[in-house]
Amino acid sequence: MTQHPVPVIAIDGPTASGKGTVAHRVADKLGFHYLDSGALYRLTALSALRHDTPLNDEHAIAKLAEHLPCRFVGDTIWLASENVTGDIRAEEVGNTASKIAVLPTVRHALAGLQLGFRKPPGLVADGRDMGTVIFPHATLKVFLTASVEARAHRRYKQLIDKGFPANMEDLLKDLKERDERDSNRAVAPLKPAEGAHFLETSDMTADEAVEQVLRWYAEAKKHA
Ligand code: CDP
Repeated sequence: MTQHPVPVIAIDGPTASGKGTVAHRVADKLGFHYLDSGALYRLTALSALRHDTPLNDEHAIAKLAEHLPCRFVGDTIWLASENVTGDIRAEEVGNTASKIAVLPTVRHALAGLQLGFRKPPGLVADGRDMGTVIFPHATLKVFLTASVEARAHRRYKQLIDKGFPANMEDLLKDLKERDERDSNRAVAPLKPAEGAHFLETSDMTADEAVEQVLRWYAEAKKHA
């Protein structure tokens, strides 16, 4: 097998597991690009909500995904001329993202966009299917998990910090539903990739998780 010259670190895991924070910091440490693949599903969901597109109209939603006028500039995310960095983090948008993520043509439309993020000197990509589908030959694959309670606490804090309303009971229910939907869908279900390293972060700080990923990457590079 020919090794792709641009290394990829694929970090997958369930909702609110902290993959975003860890992936972002690992990318910063290595000077790599960062792909938040969930943001693409969230952007498609936001577009669908704004256009009142029925969530079962796969063709119409795939069209939105195919022509998503999005731009990632530093930490700011644009949809056409609107800064939607905050808006896409709302729980309604996350839940809608999880519903449209089951649609194969939507996943297909977003795949090309994701591959385009692989640029020198390297990429850290986080999502549900980075190691299984989008970058199956990634240099390093990590499956990051945390208990449902730890994840609900993290999501609660994240929402409150961003000024969104949050209720712990509703969050736990949403998280479990989202886990169920993401893990049991027919196309690209959430599951550990072959050869993935498991990282259980319930009792770990983000910095400790970052250090572990960097150690694994240093090891993996030697064998690439
Ligand atoms: O923030 P959270 O971890 O809840 O979700 P996210 O990473 O922003 O992704 C939102 C939704 O998009 C997820 O619930 C998944 O259903 C979907 N998604 C996916 O199917 N595949 C990916 N590679 C990334 C996200």
